[in-house]
Amino acid sequence: MSPQSQSDPSAIAAHLRRQGWGKVDAAVILGSGLGDFTDRIHNADTLKYDEIPGMHGTSVAGHEGALYRGEAGGKAILAFAGRFHRYEGYTLDQTLFPVRIAAAMGARSIFISNAAGGINLRFSVGDLMLIDDLLNPGSVLFATSSEREFIRYKPDHWIEKAKKVACRLGITLQQGCYLYAQGPSYETPAEIRAFRIMGGDSVGMSTAPELIEALRLGMDPFGISLITNKAAGISKAKLDHSEIKEAAEMRKKDFADLIEGLIAD
Ligand code: HPA
Repeated sequence: MSPQSQSDPSAIAAHLRRQGWGKVDAAVILGSGLGDFTDRIHNADTLKYDEIPGMHGTSVAGHEGALYRGEAGGKAILAFAGRFHRYEGYTLDQTLFPVRIAAAMGARSIFISNAAGGINLRFSVGDLMLIDDLLNPGSVLFATSSEREFIRYKPDHWIEKAKKVACRLGITLQQGCYLYAQGPSYETPAEIRAFRIMGGDSVGMSTAPELIEALRLGMDPFGISLITNKAAGISKAKLDHSEIKEAAEMRKKDFADLIEGLIAD
């Protein structure tokens, strides 16, 4: 389906139910390179996005483009291996499809992950950062969402749980504010310096609108960044997509353990 065509998340959920996919408790949106979480899903049933009527495909490397239903952490879950970005040409509405489908399938908790650049100078490649706040400079400066002042992302209870799970498993975590940049190109060093002064700790091209949409739909969302590179201008290394795979290899087990622990809690 082309980025421009319209379809309806509740019709997609109805189609999934007709396939025998029952209600779920939780959903996970897997960021670039983090698709291996799907190995943790028991009794998994899967559909490629292009096999689902009304669903669009994904064109980004490291995104499988498939939807899973099964059990993880003892709960019924949906997992989206692949998401849609504004920089691929999708409308904001279309990028929110996974969240809306998850809500229509009954998910209350939703874990939204991403590959991100580290703005915070204390962060290293491979760090997992719990998202405790959001910065959306475009929305603040140009008021793209009329609802922004009514919706607050306050995941304190998730952060507390994540720290307990991490302590039990011996995983180290960072915590900070995710800054949403629309892309498609990575930022300039000057933008990153500005974003650091603004309070951003990680930067990426997804997740913030999805978290806000999940809140709007009455869900209990939590965002997690995998720091795949130091943001522009911090190190001399040239930035490209291959770093995402390398960082994900380093931490995909910890990421999956953490998500499983959060779902189970
Ligand atoms: N900037 C924006 N998006 C990203 C980055 C980055 O440095 N790394 C991974 N996704």
